[in-house]
Amino acid sequence: MLNQALEYAKENQERFLTELKEVLTIPSISTDPDHKADMQHAAEWMSAQLKSINMSNVQIMPTGGHPVVYGEWLGAGKTSPTVLIYGHYDVQPVDPLELWTNPPFEPAVIGDNLFARGSADMKGQVLASLKAVESIMKNGDMPVNIKWLIEGEEEIGSEHLDDFIKNHKELLACNFCLNTDAGILASDEPSITTGLRGLAYFELRVYGPSKDLHSGLFGGTVHNPAQALAELIAGMHDKNGKITLPGFYKKVRKLSKKEHKDFARLPLNNKLYLEQTGVPALWGERKFTPPERLGARPTLEINGLLSGFTGPGSKTVLPAWAMAKISCRLVPDQTPEQTIKQLKKYLKEKAPKDITWELEYLHGAGAALVSRDNIGIKAMAKSMETVWGKKPYFLREGGSIGVVVQLQKRLGVDSVLSGFALPDCDAHSPNEKLHLPTWHKGIDALIHFFYNLK
Ligand code: BES
Ligand code: MN
Repeated sequence: MLNQALEYAKENQERFLTELKEVLTIPSISTDPDHKADMQHAAEWMSAQLKSINMSNVQIMPTGGHPVVYGEWLGAGKTSPTVLIYGHYDVQPVDPLELWTNPPFEPAVIGDNLFARGSADMKGQVLASLKAVESIMKNGDMPVNIKWLIEGEEEIGSEHLDDFIKNHKELLACNFCLNTDAGILASDEPSITTGLRGLAYFELRVYGPSKDLHSGLFGGTVHNPAQALAELIAGMHDKNGKITLPGFYKKVRKLSKKEHKDFARLPLNNKLYLEQTGVPALWGERKFTPPERLGARPTLEINGLLSGFTGPGSKTVLPAWAMAKISCRLVPDQTPEQTIKQLKKYLKEKAPKDITWELEYLHGAGAALVSRDNIGIKAMAKSMETVWGKKPYFLREGGSIGVVVQLQKRLGVDSVLSGFALPDCDAHSPNEKLHLPTWHKGIDALIHFFYNLK
């Protein structure tokens, strides 16, 4: 019964939080090979949770990378819908460590927030689904069949998940996927995400002399690779903020009048972005508003730069090489494959002859749009309205989640993109936090969501 499930969630709030803190102590950083054992540990923790809430066929399944955790409960019978609940147990790296007020894997509650890497993105969201399902299961009347797909590679592009889905179509068959890896607009503004950007991630290396040189003895005769890299990078945007890679905008879908209007209706203004980011002024394509730039326009971002001497003091050196991590956020109908070609073409045309370069493609994912005409989206909108007392906004978000496109392509199913992280949760940044009152509301909303599917 709905009321008993809600009551159960309320009575068990403390324990839910204790369990969340426990999984947050596991440093499951997927990109770092030193954390391989932690990845296994986090997968085992998730599988133990699934078992504890009466899921059957719980398995830790190998992939070409980090394992997938699977579990199911098919007791609602063949005539009821099946929901595939997605989550990821991996987290982003924590550097710069010195900026964390509390160590990232020692979760701390301060006021209304729980601080830890992965608290918002997304162990907190996975626990919200687990605890909503637990609250219903313990009261004996789960109205739909449930399958769990909890992966360990979301933060590195879900590279091996595509093959996993392709090889387990039967196991994962469902009516739609519940994906709580997106967030809501604000603690008092519920929202459902209807689009995500794709990604193409690169490492660009520029080589000059065969070794670091004395900048006095050779400076002025050798093109400094750090400078050459900076020149190449600077040329990737024009002065209006447009990306100059050849053909980059060719496949970008234009926004219709209606889509512009939908964006304009969102409770988002420039002041909000200034506050959230701390920049003195916003930047970007003038013809589009910030929510449009984030949801519907592609970008090229420098994620990191490395070259030469960066230690304390000074060293007069002309470095042998320079490196940049570069990624593009993509929108419909761009693809990572096109982006690779466009960036290569740019480099072939623009790179000077006095250096050499290498471009490595690390990973990528297509952009996703999901249909609003889905029983899951309707059930979620209704449950948010019940819990928040207002209808949710629908919006396209700037982040990327590989599985959404993979499920569309391999299983032909859409995702309900919700989740209860807030825009100021500092995901991927120091001092990531989860707003606990919103987290508890989210658990309630998920309980309503399952009953709304009846
Ligand atoms: N949860 C985020 C994606 C997200 C953030 C969606 C905000 C909607 C709103 C996810 O964990 C993430 O950060 N993904 C990476 C994926 C990438 C490495 C392929 C991202 O977007 O950078
Ligand atoms: Mn996430």
